[in-house]
Amino acid sequence: MTADSYRYAHWYDLLWSRGAVAPPELALLEPLARAAGHVLDVGAGTGRIALALAEAGVTVSCLEPSPAMRAVFLAKLAQRPQLFPRITLLPDSITTAALPSSVGLAYLAGVLHHLLTLDELDAALAQLHQALAPGGRLVLDSVAAQPTTLPLPPTLAGEVPIGALVYRTTMRQELLAPAIHRWTFRYEILHGDALIECTDNVSIAREWLREELATALLRHGFVLEAVYGDYSGEPPTDESRSLVLVAQRKEQIDV
Ligand SMILES: C[S@@+](CC[C@H](N)C(=O)[O-])C[C@H]1O[C@@H](n2cnc3c(N)ncnc32)[C@H](O)[C@@H]1O
Repeated sequence: MTADSYRYAHWYDLLWSRGAVAPPELALLEPLARAAGHVLDVGAGTGRIALALAEAGVTVSCLEPSPAMRAVFLAKLAQRPQLFPRITLLPDSITTAALPSSVGLAYLAGVLHHLLTLDELDAALAQLHQALAPGGRLVLDSVAAQPTTLPLPPTLAGEVPIGALVYRTTMRQELLAPAIHRWTFRYEILHGDALIECTDNVSIAREWLREELATALLRHGFVLEAVYGDYSGEPPTDESRSLVLVAQRKEQIDV
């Protein structure tokens, strides 16, 4: 990432946690993380998942290139000093970071679309293969079941009343080229009918298809173990658009 496309990190938990007690990703990730002991959270964001796993006793190494996301993560971590020994937050990208070794689980939650080229995906998978212990698991989400063919008109993503104000986010998606999309998030603060703040955040995302991922995983020494429709661990249905893949690191890369 060049510019910090997550500079609205202070909106992130408000928008995506939606008052949920625990991140839904834990249904799949927590048992794997407990078995692994030490995990790598790639693109940890505000620590939504990492903090929950650390609370469960897991040691979590986190990568997060966005300074704004790290600021929110650290503010939350500061309220939980008992977790300091179990969380490491590295300010780096998966394509370049010096990673810990022999982790039992690595996961990318909501991160894959930020890898815009095959070179970036290859660099990330090569790094992850090195960081994982033999037999370690890699979990990837945001994998498209089918290519997106229609743009998304402005759509309400979340609306939260806090005191006298309403915090509202809408999202729209334009298709720029095959698999390359422009996302615009509009963040608005309203006081009654009066709009008191309105900001747009634009970023470019790439859609990765299940078949592309399956081929790339194989090339980098992973065996695809399971494909789920979401983090509940149910198989995909005809309606599933965004898939969750679980892969296992083989001992050796085939040549
Ligand atoms: C949608 S957020 C997801 C945050 C968190 N994983 C969660 O589920 O709440 C995507 C995150 O990926 C991070 N990211 C983008 N490119 C990255 C890269 N090359 N390496 C590591 N993280 C990256 C962003 O900074 C952002 O915090």
